[in-house]
Amino acid sequence: MVDGKTKILGVIGDPIEHTFSPAMQNAGLEALNLNYIYLPFHVKSDNLNSAIEGAKTLGIRGLNVTIPHKREVITCLDEVDPIANMIGAVNTIKFDYDENEGISTKGYNTDAYGCLRAIEEKASVKDKKITIVGAGGASRAIAFQMASSDIGELSILNRNFNKAESLANDIKSNLKQLNDNFNLNINAYDMDSLKREIQESEILIDTTPIGMYPNINDKPIASADMMHDDLIVNDIVYTPMETSLIKEAKKANAEVVYGYKMLLYQGIRSFEIWLGEEAPVKEMENALLKVFRHLNGF
Ligand SMILES: NC(=O)c1ccc[n+]([C@@H]2O[C@H](COP(=O)([O-])OP(=O)(O)OC[C@H]3O[C@@H](n4cnc5c(N)ncnc54)[C@H](OP(=O)(O)O)[C@@H]3O)[C@@H](O)[C@H]2O)c1
Repeated sequence: MVDGKTKILGVIGDPIEHTFSPAMQNAGLEALNLNYIYLPFHVKSDNLNSAIEGAKTLGIRGLNVTIPHKREVITCLDEVDPIANMIGAVNTIKFDYDENEGISTKGYNTDAYGCLRAIEEKASVKDKKITIVGAGGASRAIAFQMASSDIGELSILNRNFNKAESLANDIKSNLKQLNDNFNLNINAYDMDSLKREIQESEILIDTTPIGMYPNINDKPIASADMMHDDLIVNDIVYTPMETSLIKEAKKANAEVVYGYKMLLYQGIRSFEIWLGEEAPVKEMENALLKVFRHLNGF
């Protein structure tokens, strides 16, 4: 029950009405009997800074940040976690209120962690060769995370080759600055190399929107005959759950990682950053799946 002591968490974005986060986060808060509530806030770009300042005034404890504010919000924060800084995008803000030191804000990127944890439900990424298709915002976050996670080799493929190459170079130079001994093999290719790269990889991550509702019958980036049964295939699209790529992966007897798992684990990590305790994964996953079932009728 909401009362005078209830603390507020939320998500800001534009648009915001399709967000899945309130269902998932409120289920987690309820399961642990925490006197918190998680709310959606529609914030237009022109009001981003005043929304963050307003959140401080209102004593809000934490916010998720979604499209289109993930990059811009960095300029509104006191501190940014090093990986989020390299990625150049923040999706989680923690607000700290200290009687002596005042209010401070720190930004994190839990999207990339979400993808890593979803894949590691199946197998560790350590020493694995990973192929990522796409070089947009999600790819950037995932590629930085993977390159920082003790993997064996990384290939980035994109329709626009220059974007793949620039992302690969950016990761190399940023991670070299953090660690002189960084020497991970990161390659960029165009889509013509996809068949070969998949054959040599243990993990394939598709970060393109291909197959996303309503274009559910669009040709996926790869067909079953390009895959093998030692491959883990992660499509980060989550509407529908069974994308055309996931169907091809199943035909090839590959292990599949559904896109909703990334969404789940980014939320789990945000919850843990705000609350400082382990999130109830099962309850939050069930709440998320319930919303999907309601929307997609599966
Ligand atoms: N599961 C999750 O939690 C989660 C989180 C974030 C995003 N997502 C999903 O991830 C997808 C990508 O998001 P984003 O923010 O990274 O988008 P983005 O920045 O627009 O990047 C999209 C990438 O996909 C490529 N692409 C688009 N259409 C293509 C096509 N028909 N054939 C080949 N390549 C194509 C683009 O290539 P070019 O550079 O050549 O244009 C670009 O590299 C969206 O569907 C989004 O819903 C899921």
